[in-house]
Amino acid sequence: MTERTSDNQATGQEPEGAEGVAIQQRKNGLDLSVSQELAENMKQGWADTERHGLEPIAQAAHTARRRAELSTRFPGERLVIPAGNLKVRSNDTDYPFRPSSDYAYLTGDQSENGVLVLEPEADGGHLATAYLLPRSDRENGEFWLSGQGELWDGRRNSLTENEQLLGLPCKDVRKLADELRAAARPSRVLRGYDAGIEAATAGSSNAEGDEEFGVFLSELRRIKDEFEIAELRLACESTIRGFEDVVRTLDRAEATSERWIEGTFHLRARVEGNTVGYSTIAAAGAHATTIHWVRNDGAVRSGELLLLDAGVETRNLYTADLTRTLPINGRFTPLQRQIYDAVFEAQEAGIAAVRPGADYRGFHLAAQRVLAERLFSWGLFGGLDLEKVYELGLHRRWTMHGTGHMLGMDVHDCAVARTEMYVDGTLEPGMVLTVEPGLYFQVDDLTVPEEYRGIGVRIEDDILVTADGNENLSAALPRRADAVEAWMAGLRG
Ligand code: GLY
Ligand code: MN
Ligand code: MN
Repeated sequence: MTERTSDNQATGQEPEGAEGVAIQQRKNGLDLSVSQELAENMKQGWADTERHGLEPIAQAAHTARRRAELSTRFPGERLVIPAGNLKVRSNDTDYPFRPSSDYAYLTGDQSENGVLVLEPEADGGHLATAYLLPRSDRENGEFWLSGQGELWDGRRNSLTENEQLLGLPCKDVRKLADELRAAARPSRVLRGYDAGIEAATAGSSNAEGDEEFGVFLSELRRIKDEFEIAELRLACESTIRGFEDVVRTLDRAEATSERWIEGTFHLRARVEGNTVGYSTIAAAGAHATTIHWVRNDGAVRSGELLLLDAGVETRNLYTADLTRTLPINGRFTPLQRQIYDAVFEAQEAGIAAVRPGADYRGFHLAAQRVLAERLFSWGLFGGLDLEKVYELGLHRRWTMHGTGHMLGMDVHDCAVARTEMYVDGTLEPGMVLTVEPGLYFQVDDLTVPEEYRGIGVRIEDDILVTADGNENLSAALPRRADAVEAWMAGLRG
């Protein structure tokens, strides 16, 4: 990182000494103030830290199989899948790097600037190569004077180490753009992650072909393999511990704000996983009726509900996506429970509709039907007939969103899959989806009784389609209202 530069600027001081020299060099290019003696000094006296005989990473066999599927689908074409580059947050600070899911899925690697290339071979198939940054050169000073120097950013794996870990050949990514230009051939590129690589392949790929490539990559991830299912289990387990952390510390949240809840969950996500898989929704009181409430700056009040929608992303980049709606003081009021129970019953109906061979849309329709019936039974549609209400979709004023989505490396996984492979398709063993019905009564909704206004409830679980039905991967997190109250009481003591 280059924050040190900012620090110096902030204090108005000129950088001094060895650190100062390196700082200037990183910012301004060649720095003549590096003495010859210092340059020579920095070349020497470093131990050889190369590691030998490394075991492949746990998912190496899986990534090889996934690449083979990709190779079969696009014979004779060069396939290019970038990890992506750092993105500027502001001035000289970057966002934490997170590679494209497709790159990580096909390599198991998470390096910034990495690129996977599948080069077609004369006798069929492809040769896969990971293009990565190598170790920093000490002879030319790169390791301490350049923006990608390991002395500043930390040791990288050598290319040889990465070959052992990833189980595929590795080359220097800094030469890739030139290589792609020099030996242009029909290519497909995963767009949107690496502008330099896209420029280098601009003459050899086209928008339509690249879009089709992105769609295939998205569809490839629909059915989870054993490694992925194990990761999603870990993600759910960590997330459940994060929810427990939040409940234990609700008193502190009441004394501060929703931010305390977000921060508490984030601690668990960072310690056990990579980070959170999406921005945590810590929505207390009426904020729960805002589906994408991520400002998380509101008050947390006894007597109101907390809608917490949060997921830990594992170190291998699989995320859970769980929601619980909790009474902040530990006990639902009768009206809160009435609305909660309706959502719970809708979720039960939705989960029951998740089985292989069922229409994908089935679980949504099952849950929506229950919600429409409950809303009708509360008299919210005036004199209208239930079937008419359902046909017109009038219940959607309060149910708002779809009942779920595929889950995996991305919270909304497989997002660019064709509709016939997703919402118009059928469920298959190995798919993982969320089932997450909700009811939301806005504070300014004059069509509902006043006491409903400002109540929002969602319950969300992560469901694996199995050979004969489904498994709730997040079943250990209580859902039924009584069980939620007992769980909270147990944690708060
Ligand atoms: N947390 C995002 C979602 O539930 O889809
Ligand atoms: Mn979700
Ligand atoms: Mn969610």
